[in-house]
Amino acid sequence: MTEPTTTRSRADRIVLAYSGGLDTSVAIGWLAEQTGADVVAVAVDVGQGGEDLETIRKRALGCGAVEAVVVDARDEFAEEFCLPALRANAMYMGRYPLVSALSRPLIARHLVAAARDHAASVVSHGCTGKGNDQVRFEVGIATLAPHLSVIAPVRDYAWTREKAIEYAQRRDLPIDVTKKSPYSIDQNVWGRAVETGFLEDIWNGPVEAVYSYTDSPATPRASDEVVISFEHGVPVGIDGRAVTMLQAIEQLNARGGAQGVGRLDVVEDRLVGIKSREVYEAPGALVLLEAHRELESVTVERDLARFKKGVEQRWSELVYDGLWFSPLKRSLDAFVDTSQQHVTGEVRLTLHAGKAVATGRRSQASLYDFNLATYDEGDTFDQSLAKGFVELWGLPAKIAARRDHAADTVPERRDSSSGLTRGR
Ligand code: ARG
Repeated sequence: MTEPTTTRSRADRIVLAYSGGLDTSVAIGWLAEQTGADVVAVAVDVGQGGEDLETIRKRALGCGAVEAVVVDARDEFAEEFCLPALRANAMYMGRYPLVSALSRPLIARHLVAAARDHAASVVSHGCTGKGNDQVRFEVGIATLAPHLSVIAPVRDYAWTREKAIEYAQRRDLPIDVTKKSPYSIDQNVWGRAVETGFLEDIWNGPVEAVYSYTDSPATPRASDEVVISFEHGVPVGIDGRAVTMLQAIEQLNARGGAQGVGRLDVVEDRLVGIKSREVYEAPGALVLLEAHRELESVTVERDLARFKKGVEQRWSELVYDGLWFSPLKRSLDAFVDTSQQHVTGEVRLTLHAGKAVATGRRSQASLYDFNLATYDEGDTFDQSLAKGFVELWGLPAKIAARRDHAADTVPERRDSSSGLTRGR
């Protein structure tokens, strides 16, 4: 192991993003030895479940941290990170609801706050050099507190699992080094991400043991019907009972999870340029996203809805790419915010066999006009206007086609000679 000589003289205190796992437990003592600095461990609860925070706090101290800060950030995460993602219908590559990508800027914010409180000049995290999370942490920290520097022992000093176990055993650290999951897992209230192990062969199907937020969609069971109420794009009620954002996610994690909703198997484009395979489960997120999109389809005007699609994609890419605290993201947030003005109402969904399907919607702000839409007697849509509309709508295309026919450059004709089917 090489030594981080560049930081040795500077660092008096280091704030470490602490998970309670092997790598970050070992990092405490190692950082202290290598830099001569005191290490303050910071563990943030974003609804990942597992060990309670007090156990994690004690372990950090047992591993040599001078202080261990634990933060219950579950409501903050739900309201300030998951909610904007919901209102933006955020899905990276149209599929991944940004589970880990949403938690990193929040953790970065808490690391920066701890660095300020404890007068630390260095922040440390346990990410590798191949993933997105290093980018999200470091870009987040750099935008919030540019004066802080970063040490990432696993990445910068080539830590391996073997080295970490050896170190932990040699120092007799209070951590169970035999507890080895075959996967790398990151989870929070918005969902769960699982990678590595046999999943690295992208032909291998995920086995049931990979999942923990969801039951198998194939298990026979009665379906579940849920009604979700929204105000301005914010979920405020489930089956008529008021909920906070956190409660909404938790309740729908349980109910969607029981129906096998929200399993995803994705090969995604990482920011560092590689494709990687990740298995996700995000039952609550997927139910909420489905309901929210459904209510938008009823309450958002056509052009706004079409334009928002592009904004949603860009928003998701920015957040995936670690640019939560960036000017464009901020401006897109303002757009999304105004787009939600009328997204108020209720959506009924059936949760069953791995799917959340909307079966009803109602809203005081609905743009659906029964009298315009009905094919029954007495509709208010004046069909005689359609004839002229169609004529003028198609006029530019018609004029262009006339030119192409005259010059014998009709694309369809060339297509037919090249064996493609002639368009109608
Ligand atoms: N691929 C996801 C992302 O970049 C999740 C990253 C963490 N995944 C994990 N299994 N540790 O957002």
